[in-house]
Amino acid sequence: MRTKYKPKAVEYLNTHFDNQFKIDDETSKVALKEFVLNKKTYLEIGPGKGQFILNMAQKFPQFNFLVCELNPTICGIALKKIDESKLTNIKLIYGDFYKLRDILSEDIFSGLFLNFSDPWPKRRHEKRRLTSDLFLVEYAKVLKNNALVYFKTDNDGLYEYSLEKFKEYNWEIVLNSLDYNVLDEFDAPTEFETRYKNQGIKIKRLILRKTCNTIKKVIEE
Ligand SMILES: C[S@@+](CC[C@H](N)C(=O)[O-])C[C@H]1O[C@@H](n2cnc3c(N)ncnc32)[C@H](O)[C@@H]1O
Repeated sequence: MRTKYKPKAVEYLNTHFDNQFKIDDETSKVALKEFVLNKKTYLEIGPGKGQFILNMAQKFPQFNFLVCELNPTICGIALKKIDESKLTNIKLIYGDFYKLRDILSEDIFSGLFLNFSDPWPKRRHEKRRLTSDLFLVEYAKVLKNNALVYFKTDNDGLYEYSLEKFKEYNWEIVLNSLDYNVLDEFDAPTEFETRYKNQGIKIKRLILRKTCNTIKKVIEE
């Protein structure tokens, strides 16, 4: 997603800490652990401006939601919305999910949302796709056993690539829909989803379960 750099949004991100954890700050790491252990916690990587997660956090106050976003402008915009919502069950981390792996413990998340991730269609950018090998290995580590990955995309190439990768890493396919039209109860529309649906583009959705076989594959890697 190309977003123009907005100094005001970045300044907001750099000056407001009620609802964000900093990767490199020790106190923040402790607070992150407490947040995740306090309630069942769901992770979203690449939330964009946060419409989906705000909706989910409002609908499901019994759960906590953590978002990780690498674009500072988008992060600042999302953080401001989270602050203004007054919801206490969403926190944000600014940074690349892949850099989080050293500070996250294993088996902590009850689920993971990947909504309209950047497709990175060129082969030389494969490693940036959020469903490429190294990411799938990390997801298997941080998710609890039987936890689900919820994946939605407009992009046929990313859908096909991701399905093959999840199969390769022994994730159990719980749902595979090529025309996901009516939202499940445990779901909400994202900014991109609304835009694509209005253009008549079909949404592809996968739900995958981490099982003992997924872990076996990770240990072999
Ligand atoms: C195409 S946007 C989709 C935004 C939103 N999920 C939606 O559906 O409207 C993808 C987002 O993922 C973020 N992103 C991509 N790779 C990431 C990574 N490794 N860690 C965290 N965020 C990432 C991008 O900065 C961008 O904001």
